[in-house]
Amino acid sequence: MKQQLEAIRASAVAAMENAADADALEALRVQYLGKKGELTAVLKQMGKLSAEERPVMGQLANEVRAKLEAAIEARAGELAGKAMAARLLAETVDVTIPGEAHALGKQHPMYQVLDEIKDIFIGMGFEVIEDREVELADYNFTKLNVEEGHPAREWSDTFYFTEDSSILLRTQTSPMQIHAMETRSLPIRMIAPGRVYRKDEVDATHSPMFHQIEGMAIDKGITMADLKGTLNEVVKSLYGEDTVTRFRPHHFPFTEPSCEMDIQCYKCHGAGCPTCKGEGWIELLGAGMIHPKVLEGCGIDSSVYSGWAFGFGLERLALGQYKISDLRLIFENDVRFLEQF
Ligand code: PHE
Repeated sequence: MKQQLEAIRASAVAAMENAADADALEALRVQYLGKKGELTAVLKQMGKLSAEERPVMGQLANEVRAKLEAAIEARAGELAGKAMAARLLAETVDVTIPGEAHALGKQHPMYQVLDEIKDIFIGMGFEVIEDREVELADYNFTKLNVEEGHPAREWSDTFYFTEDSSILLRTQTSPMQIHAMETRSLPIRMIAPGRVYRKDEVDATHSPMFHQIEGMAIDKGITMADLKGTLNEVVKSLYGEDTVTRFRPHHFPFTEPSCEMDIQCYKCHGAGCPTCKGEGWIELLGAGMIHPKVLEGCGIDSSVYSGWAFGFGLERLALGQYKISDLRLIFENDVRFLEQF
């Protein structure tokens, strides 16, 4: 039995030290120390030994078992270390490789201005709405009190889709007034930004496509004072508390009375400079009290309700705000330009 035990020790330890991986090592553990293992089989024969031999063999068997267990543990440790080393090698990251640069975009300067304006109006309880750019002439003109034959309806100014001049690219955001009146319940407080189209040659101040923002409030008892108060507040939020404005009489077919609003030049404070072209004032927008004919045309009783409206060009405002001298820069989308804002 002693020889058996020593043979087991020698062969098992040698095999364990060379086990290729954790699975092989486990197989060896079962082979020697498992319930049907070789060492276990030898121990089962202990009963046949004499009383003197038994403790001697028992001690030897325990030593062999301890030796095998130690060999397994040692090899397991070695294998784990090797596995970790292999994994570290496989997962090596070369932190010195230059990263791939991904250019991060940002909001276009004009839309930054638009967001600022939206925020101001939303804070005053206005809704922001959008609508179609392809319009019926009815909505772009007729319902806005611009009759057939009015010079604004000329083919030289407007992009028409049909020979009969009934469908066009809207020339202003004012048709959104009509859509809002026709589809919403009163009172209405809304702004409506969007693209508009006119047959203009591209130059530093013109483009066949540009943006306007329409604004409108309709309720009982609305007066010109509400229009002036609202617009003054907006302009102060945009340009500062000390901004001075003036309202000049003007004409629009769909408002009566109509006006234009100027702000005193924020650069020279009225003295006259290149920014305001020596005028001291910068023209900002057109506005007025919605013509009773327009209200009635949309089924609104003008003896009960009244309202104001305004409209202005967004590009012009952004150019002023960011001191950009050429409208074309706004549309060319050259990142070297856009990055500056
Ligand atoms: N639609 C007018 C324009 O394009 C601006 C405007 C809007 C004027 C609303 C009065 C009221 O010039």
